[in-house]
Amino acid sequence: MTNSTLPLPPRNAPTWSSRLTFILAATGSAVGLGNIWKFPYITGENGGGAFVLVYLLCILLAGIPVMIAEVLLGKQGRSSPVFAVQRLALEAGRSRHWRWLGALGVVAGVLILSYYSVIAGWALAYLPKMLAGDFVGIAGDGSSAIFKSHLARPAVLLGWHSLFMVMTMAVVIAGVTRGLGRAVEFLMPVLFVLLLILLGFAIAEGEFMQAVRYLFSFDNAAALTGKSVLIALGHAFFTLSIGMGAIMAYGSYMPPAAPVARTVWVVAVMDTCVALVAGLAIFPIVFASPDLDPASGPGLLFVSLPVAFGGMPAGVLFGTLFFALVSVAAWTSSISLIEPAVAWLVDSGRARRWQAGVILGVLCWAIGVGSVLSFNDWQDWHLLGGFNWFELSDFLTANLMLPLGGILMAIFVGHLYSTQAVRKALDIEGWLYRLWHFVLRWVSPVLVAVVLVYGLIGVFT
Ligand code: TRP
Repeated sequence: MTNSTLPLPPRNAPTWSSRLTFILAATGSAVGLGNIWKFPYITGENGGGAFVLVYLLCILLAGIPVMIAEVLLGKQGRSSPVFAVQRLALEAGRSRHWRWLGALGVVAGVLILSYYSVIAGWALAYLPKMLAGDFVGIAGDGSSAIFKSHLARPAVLLGWHSLFMVMTMAVVIAGVTRGLGRAVEFLMPVLFVLLLILLGFAIAEGEFMQAVRYLFSFDNAAALTGKSVLIALGHAFFTLSIGMGAIMAYGSYMPPAAPVARTVWVVAVMDTCVALVAGLAIFPIVFASPDLDPASGPGLLFVSLPVAFGGMPAGVLFGTLFFALVSVAAWTSSISLIEPAVAWLVDSGRARRWQAGVILGVLCWAIGVGSVLSFNDWQDWHLLGGFNWFELSDFLTANLMLPLGGILMAIFVGHLYSTQAVRKALDIEGWLYRLWHFVLRWVSPVLVAVVLVYGLIGVFT
């Protein structure tokens, strides 16, 4: 391990050319499978409205305040996460052990990417299926059957997982996201327009009002357990890409004058809108098909939307485009998941960038094999807490490591770092600043800690 006498790497120079570039990069990281694939299915598994409300509260009371703190850490630390935290801790006269916060993030990123890539592989696999017209005129049961037979072939899943991992590592090795940043600028709006088209279809053809009720009423509040609250909280962190250093790494390239809080606000609002629109597009279709179940789990997106594409004019075109864009959204997110680990290996002098990319890519790929098998051969192989490999990778990261990372960031910025420096680096003042600071110091860490404890009790008893 690095010891304290080892020189810290040089500070990153600001490289985002404008505020817009940072917003785009952060949005590219935030908007991904979490919004389009995960949010709808965990909402379905946890009963709808009450879960959505808790999720929105978690975004407001923990997600946004901690996200501001995390970007600030990057902006002030001007290094990859492990070193940024270490530098700031030393400067503030605190223990260098704070770097373990960065290390926790590196591990979380690797573990998330291992299964994220498997799911992104599903989206890639749906491209040729869509293009071939496999879903034209199909109903819920037919779509479920196609999805089931897709999952039943581990070798095929592995192939797509490998392809996605190669795509991710290629960008990471080529040196961050310049090319992709350009692409995001244009593709993210297209993805959003496509979601709106789907929404239009869902309103016209699906059970739209039933879906609205499902997502925004409390008919089903009884389904909300300590575990669901923990899942909602974990997802607030997951969907904003916070708690593990990804957004910190991006923040380290911010010019000193860039407005942190306003930028975070914009990204968080966009991210939340994408998730809600995805939910409003998917559930009307689910409720209109008697053989689709909102609580069917990780396959929800992949069985429900093809039914919609199969029934709309030019559905082959829209469907192919949609899964292409979901893949791109996943791609821009996956890069941010592995960037802290790559940067740490490079900055500590352990490897060159391409070596770091290859080593970490192989590592994530290998761990991901367990997730590939979790949908077939190892489906019933339960590890800790009744979770299979995929479920455990997801649970440990989203519902344990990210909230833990978030608490630590809130404590560090809220209690240990110089209040003056924080105030100077932020673009909010007056009551808004005081509100943020109070929430960050007292509300976010306590809320997250309480939910974490209750949730874990719920899961393991
Ligand atoms: N936020 C992304 C999504 O919703 C996933 C993601 C990218 C992420 N980078 C992250 C999650 C860092 C947690 C931490 O799909």
